[in-house]
Amino acid sequence: MSSANPQGLQAFPDELEGRESWLEPFDWYREMREENPVRYDADRGSWDVFRYDDVKRILDDDATFSVNPRLANDFVEPDNPGEGLIFDTMLFQDPPRHDELRGVVDDQFRPRTLREREPHFRELAHDLLDTAVAEGGDEMEVVSDLAYPFPVTVIAELLGVPADERDRFKEWSDTLVAAASDDDASEAFLERQQQAQMEMAQYFVEMIADRRENPRDDLLSRIVTAELSDGSRLSREEALGMCILLLVAGNITTTNLIANAVRCFADAGGDLFDRLRGDERGLTTALEEVLRYRSPVQAMTRIAAEDVELRGETIEEGDRIIVWLGSANRDGRQFDAADEFRPDRSPTQQLGFGHGTHYCLGAPLARLEAEIALTGLLDRTEEIRVADDDLRPTRSSFVYGVESLPIRYDER
Ligand code: HEM
Repeated sequence: MSSANPQGLQAFPDELEGRESWLEPFDWYREMREENPVRYDADRGSWDVFRYDDVKRILDDDATFSVNPRLANDFVEPDNPGEGLIFDTMLFQDPPRHDELRGVVDDQFRPRTLREREPHFRELAHDLLDTAVAEGGDEMEVVSDLAYPFPVTVIAELLGVPADERDRFKEWSDTLVAAASDDDASEAFLERQQQAQMEMAQYFVEMIADRRENPRDDLLSRIVTAELSDGSRLSREEALGMCILLLVAGNITTTNLIANAVRCFADAGGDLFDRLRGDERGLTTALEEVLRYRSPVQAMTRIAAEDVELRGETIEEGDRIIVWLGSANRDGRQFDAADEFRPDRSPTQQLGFGHGTHYCLGAPLARLEAEIALTGLLDRTEEIRVADDDLRPTRSSFVYGVESLPIRYDER
């Protein structure tokens, strides 16, 4: 994933450049919440909003604060029409179009529907973990052994990618999310990414054509056959955009939730792992705290649909606004001891999955995947320690986590 998000949010504010700051942006957030809670950054040409109440107010009011990037006064239509596909998906559409598009798939992500597939998801995670433990002895790299392959495989299965094509599918995903190393932010790397993007899009175009003719019991068939309120169906481009959205929105985010959870639990130390082992409710509560404390998505964009006042500042129509979920989730006005990781904190009203109309569609799936992954890990290991004191942050301007997370443990 490139360091700019698809809405054109360019990298980080200057204050966050550099590895250390993006691993621990929380002191900076605190400073901004107190001294500059709503500010305009001329370098990036956007507003930043840091306090919980303000973030929530913005997410509650999608008539004033739109998700439609085309309303931004600096919006440039991408040259390549394929790149614009994502802008026509639910994530970047306001109601009523948003609700139509979300309605095509939302029942597939409800907890009750997911429960039917849960035993199989558990098998997938357990196979990955058994392999990692068998091969790694007392060491594991949480991201590549578990946190990355598990959600990719789950979404591939949900969509209906046949088992014998999953390796190809995973290769494309690997290339798409792979970060260029510092000395390889090169043309060749970008070309490889574009090539993977094209091959994957072509693959989905073929699958879409196939499912139109021969619908099956999978998400892709649902996407291509669903009728909208005017009796129409999604166009080929809209169906393709939906597939890409589900992949992009669901994989790297869940990877980071799982890895961030291992990191938080290991850092908390004490007997936390022992307490959570076998305590499903306790684990669910602790994962909510991970979503608050090290939110996998730290920032999102909105566009002012009209002139609006916020904390005495005038935001003009067409201005871009970055809402910092990661900062809202550390706001001491909302949470006691906000900078402490408290695994039994409940209820939290954390904003890690957003809020309002665009509240994460995949939240029940992400919660289930994280619970399965962590349960599997806790069942097999003891005394988990992070075995790297030089962690590298995920290279993305809105997803937060680490590139890799080596751990050491005692086998149970
Ligand atoms: C929306 C976070 C996993 C699909 C969102 C939003 C956030 C978010 C913050 C709101 C975006 C906005 O308001 O602009 C996360 C996190 C995840 C996760 C932290 C994992 C821990 C998933 C998964 C899927 C998914 C597994 C699906 C496979 C979506 C979709 C939207 C969305 C489709 C757009 C919803 C809409 O516009 O109505 N997610 N997400 N996400 N997420 Fe997730």
